[in-house]
Amino acid sequence: MHATAKVFAAAAVILSAACAGPQSALMPAGRGAERIATLFWWMAAGAVVIWLIVFALGAYSTTRRGPHDERRARMLIIGGGALVPTVVLAGLLAYGLAMMPDLIREAPPGSMVIHVTGEQFWWRVRYPHAGGAVELANEIRLPAGRAVEFRVDSPDVIHAFWIPSLGGKIDMVPGRVNRLLLEPTRVGTYRGTCTEFCGMSHALMSFPVAVVEEREFEQWLEQQARPAQAPAEPIAARGATLFNAHGCNACHTIRGTAARGVIGPDLTHVGGRMSLGAGILPNDVDAFVRWIVETEKIKPGVHMPQFAMLPRHDVRAIAAYLDGLE
Ligand code: CUA
Repeated sequence: MHATAKVFAAAAVILSAACAGPQSALMPAGRGAERIATLFWWMAAGAVVIWLIVFALGAYSTTRRGPHDERRARMLIIGGGALVPTVVLAGLLAYGLAMMPDLIREAPPGSMVIHVTGEQFWWRVRYPHAGGAVELANEIRLPAGRAVEFRVDSPDVIHAFWIPSLGGKIDMVPGRVNRLLLEPTRVGTYRGTCTEFCGMSHALMSFPVAVVEEREFEQWLEQQARPAQAPAEPIAARGATLFNAHGCNACHTIRGTAARGVIGPDLTHVGGRMSLGAGILPNDVDAFVRWIVETEKIKPGVHMPQFAMLPRHDVRAIAAYLDGLE
């Protein structure tokens, strides 16, 4: 293969790989995302056709010999420069606008409502539950095939909530509640993220999104609504005592214990989540230790102070306790 061809082939592979993955609007797993992807492909196809025509005309004009025909040249400029773009753009605009009512429509009656608050730099998530709302953090689970209305807000700065695989995005503005309807259609694990610059760690607030079958979802929500399980291992029991002794309870809630702080994420079932620190660390004991002692290094500008001054065996015990909260 010629060197240039090899470069183009490699670029095509890399670029097409970037279209896949858990955070791709071009691999839709929700109704809104399907419409948006369809619109994108029509636009892309239209752009390719116009690009080919322009290049063909360019090639023709550079290879043609002989005098120019004034009348034909003027017709080409009026036709290609004004008429065709007007028709094509008007067509695409009409096609895009016709799609909008479906993308921004009201939630059907009986839809589940999930509240999400954008914090610096994590996500507070509240699910409706028979026993009152259940507060979780940095993870969203949804039943496949059911319409869900997200009501989003923020206490201080503007964030934007976007799960590209499921649908469009929406701003989280302090002082108002915005609504977004999403309808996941395909079971799988996706990724949501913040798409409005909100401070130093704007790029470090994402969240896993699991779309599961209805039954599995109901079981999960029941489990999340329960209070925290008592620590099993002696080291975890020591961690539970230290958690309150070192003041972690001032900011965090662990339902069923004396920890009732509301500033930071609810940690009742933190050990069972798919990630730590809002989508940036794996969920294991070592990651908990790192998070506790290097908080500001891992997530600059975060409101949680780091506890590097604590004895390392105390941090390990707290990490063991939190990791066990499934
Ligand atoms: Cu939150 Cu950017």
